[in-house]
Amino acid sequence: MEAAVTEGRIKIRVFPDLESLSHEAVHIFVETSRQSISERKSFSVAISGGSTPRMLYTLLGSDRYRDIVNWKGINVFWADERCVTPEHRDSNYRHAFESFLSKVPVPDKNIHRIRGEKGPEQGAQEYENELRRHFDTANLPVFDLVLLGMGEDGHTASLFRNSITLNEKGRLAVPVFRNKSDHDRITLTLPVLNNALHIVLLISGTSKSKTVANILGEKNGKHRYPVGRIQPTGGTVIWLLDREAAALLRTGRACCSA
Ligand code: 6PG
Repeated sequence: MEAAVTEGRIKIRVFPDLESLSHEAVHIFVETSRQSISERKSFSVAISGGSTPRMLYTLLGSDRYRDIVNWKGINVFWADERCVTPEHRDSNYRHAFESFLSKVPVPDKNIHRIRGEKGPEQGAQEYENELRRHFDTANLPVFDLVLLGMGEDGHTASLFRNSITLNEKGRLAVPVFRNKSDHDRITLTLPVLNNALHIVLLISGTSKSKTVANILGEKNGKHRYPVGRIQPTGGTVIWLLDREAAALLRTGRACCSA
């Protein structure tokens, strides 16, 4: 049993645990892809890395769900990627490939990997070129679905607090230069993410609860964190939280009823 509230344009749904949250995320993926493919013969999704969506990806590649998705019409992109080879243990592509892309019949040409191994600048430019080619537009691409996570510091994709990338308006994908403890990265920009038809945030665990409460529970909390700037211009955004991540939200607003 889950609870749901709406905070302005943001829909918040709270689930007992990561497993039930992940099954709902699969349901959203299946439904949005079915609708997009039936209406426009194609479905473009941008997925994220991190640990939270791994169960979702495993479910997409599982016997239970694999065959109910029309993979031939699906184009897979990434919201961000580390500047590593696709075989690297930190590659978002590798995690997605191992958990579902290697198990479903999505055409190779429909897998739009960010070539992080080319380095942040060249990789970002090549990804931007691929986005413009695929969406055949000089304007902002319109993703049918974007799957995002949130770090404890409120970052999403590879958009970090106090970064100039948060104010990027012209480019679709930009380089992100990190310190030694992390890899340089490439990320979609906020205008691209916010131009999607459907955005789903998957947030799980006690470690996220304070940031979730700061963002959703405080009047101006949203603008203090990159994930709070995920506010689609015309589409929908749903925060899928588990009980732990929602624990500090004011009771009666968004906590499970079971
Ligand atoms: C990435 C993601 C990143 C992630 C958050 C949350 O490539 O790592 O784009 O933004 O979603 O860091 O990660 P967890 O799901 O592991 O908490």
